[in-house]
Amino acid sequence: MFGFNLVLLQRFFVKVMEIVKTVAELQAKLSAVREKGQKVGFVPTMGALHNGHLSLVKRCVSENDVCVVSVFVNPTQFNDKNDLLKYPRTVDADVKLLESAGCAYAFIPEVSEIYPQEDTRIFDFGTVDKVMEGKYRPGHFNGVAQVVSRLFDIVAPDRAYFGEKDFQQIAVIRAMVAQLGYDIEIVACPIVREADGLALSSRNTRLSENQRNLAVKISETLFKSRTFASQNSVADTISFVTDTLNNVPELRVEYFEIVDGNTLQSIRSWDDTTYPVGCITVYCGEVRLIDNIKY
Ligand code: PAJ
Repeated sequence: MFGFNLVLLQRFFVKVMEIVKTVAELQAKLSAVREKGQKVGFVPTMGALHNGHLSLVKRCVSENDVCVVSVFVNPTQFNDKNDLLKYPRTVDADVKLLESAGCAYAFIPEVSEIYPQEDTRIFDFGTVDKVMEGKYRPGHFNGVAQVVSRLFDIVAPDRAYFGEKDFQQIAVIRAMVAQLGYDIEIVACPIVREADGLALSSRNTRLSENQRNLAVKISETLFKSRTFASQNSVADTISFVTDTLNNVPELRVEYFEIVDGNTLQSIRSWDDTTYPVGCITVYCGEVRLIDNIKY
């Protein structure tokens, strides 16, 4: 009897999350929210959610009246079609996690809903999208800008939340917001790591047990490089990180650059910036992992 009443009480007082699949439905719900003068926060994701994503969702929930999370594996940002095919999809688990984190609307559209026609827009954000990921994954940031601008147009949030795990992505989004004139506050959230230091990533599930144990060397070496950097040059710090990791079986550094955290341009001397950040991409077997560290 008591249990039954509890269920009824929950139905009345706990706002359950709604799953929305179409643009029209989401916009109708959000215009009702805005009519009440409520603030909308937005977290774009590609699903396969873990605690890194959830840290963004929880912050969004705590800072806004309504939190919208999109789960959409965006085909236009995958320069490697094999990577797109292998991208993990765990929608049922994602929905449960989002509901328990307090998300109000999970927006889970089909590709045709986001791209009713092919998106042929070409963006140019000056320098921030040309280096590092921009160089090694041609077209990637153009696809990110296509989908995020489309999602921003649909959701029109007051604030949008991004993780510093994808450090360069935040710089590209900020450049896009400035260029396209969006009135959206971009909130950068810190990297969430496993207990041993490995940055959480949907791609970690593709590592074998042995690779998972070796992948920890990435964050371990970045943390050690902080101490190293305090007594050595930028060039020597780059060699320290690159050589240490290339000597670990299964690991192959694609790039490691120390850049100004705002412009993302490489620095030659520590005096070149007050905001040095080391950005790395490492292949662990076939799995491409990224991480970064602030010095
Ligand atoms: P996705 O890789 O799913 O990541 C969604 C958001 O979660 C990004 O802002 C990312 O930086 C953040 N995130 C992932 N791992 C994190 C971690 N360990 N700690 C903190 N934040 C973390 O990034 C994308 O999707 C896409 O490019 C997207 C922006 C959704 C556009 O398609």
